[in-house]
Amino acid sequence: MDLLQAAREVRKNAYAPYSNFKVGAAIRAASGKVYTGVNVENVAYPEGTCAEAGAIAAMIAAGDSVIREVAVIADSPTPVPCCGGCRQKLAEFGDPDVVVRMGTLGGDVLSLTLSEILPGRFDAGHMEAQ
Ligand code: THU
Repeated sequence: MDLLQAAREVRKNAYAPYSNFKVGAAIRAASGKVYTGVNVENVAYPEGTCAEAGAIAAMIAAGDSVIREVAVIADSPTPVPCCGGCRQKLAEFGDPDVVVRMGTLGGDVLSLTLSEILPGRFDAGHMEAQ
C-alpha cells in the first residue's frame, strides 16, 4: 500500500472545523501494518490533536511500536511539515533514518529522515546522571 495514498484517503475524515486545515497521516510499522490518523480539533483549541498523534495512538493500541515509514498530507501549497511536537512524538518510535514523506494534494512530495527534521533529538540518554 502506498503510504501517501493511505494518508490522502484518511485525511477526508479529519475533524478541522476551526482551522479548516485537514491533515492525514499514515505510519508503516515493523509488522508491515499501516496505521492512519487525522487531526481532531476541539472548541477549546489547545485540546486539538495532530494527525500524526492519531496514527501513533492507533499503532500503539494495535500492539505495534516500531515505525518504519511515515507519510503526512494536507491541502498545502508546499509539502506539509510535521509540527515540532509531532517530530518528537515520531522520534519516540522510529530510528533516525526513518523516512517521513510530506505531501500536498497536488502531488508535491518532500522526503526527509527523522534525524533531518529533528536534529539533536532529546532521548533517554540525556537523563543519565553524571
Ligand atoms: N496539524 C497536524 O495535524 N499535523 C501537523 O504536523 C501540522 C498541524 C493540524 C493541527 C491543526 O488541527 C491544524 O493542522 C492547523 O494547525
